[in-house]
Amino acid sequence: LKIGVLISGSGTNLQALIDRIAAGELNAEIVLVVSSRPSAAGLKRAADAGIQTLALSKELYADPWDADEVIATELERAGAEYIVMAGYMRKVHEPLLALWPDRVVNIHPALLPSFQGAHGIQDAFDRGVKVTGVTVHFANAVYDQGPIIAQEAVRVEEGWTVDELEAAIHKVEHQLYPHVVQLLADGRVQVNDDRTVSVLPE
Ligand code: GRF
Repeated sequence: LKIGVLISGSGTNLQALIDRIAAGELNAEIVLVVSSRPSAAGLKRAADAGIQTLALSKELYADPWDADEVIATELERAGAEYIVMAGYMRKVHEPLLALWPDRVVNIHPALLPSFQGAHGIQDAFDRGVKVTGVTVHFANAVYDQGPIIAQEAVRVEEGWTVDELEAAIHKVEHQLYPHVVQLLADGRVQVNDDRTVSVLPE
């Protein structure tokens, strides 16, 4: 499966995908990494793995719609079949969503629909929930509200700091995201008419 990966930051989820592919455990190829920030550390991870990159700065592309048109053109040229958002801190817009309908996925560090937004880990921690987790879902025009593909729970242990919770969340993310990409590669993810998702048996 040919995928394009969208990042904005450290890129540890990108790294997890790179590592699984290199180990022969994930049947995918990252054809392009796009970053919304030229300084994103994830760009170096991509370059180190020999993956083509594209960095867009907010200053250059003030209009998010224009930016998505550029991104879509490059992802199409690279042959991306699915778009994988991995810590991408911008919304995706029509130019991307129209070309990859139900083919743009995102990972969120909480159990959606709880704790939507940019601070899912901190918000869950501050609320004092005892269980939170990780969600992989299809992206749509409304942030964090597309069809849910997979979720995994993380128990918040007594006495944990937010940093300990964050580490536990990331550990789960780095397992769950490659797993879901493999499900996509195997054609096992089906979006139903009611916008729920079924994972088909092997
Ligand atoms: C992850 O926690 C992801 O769930 C959220 O942003 C973070 C990205 O981390 N959307 P990284 O850039 O993959 O290290």
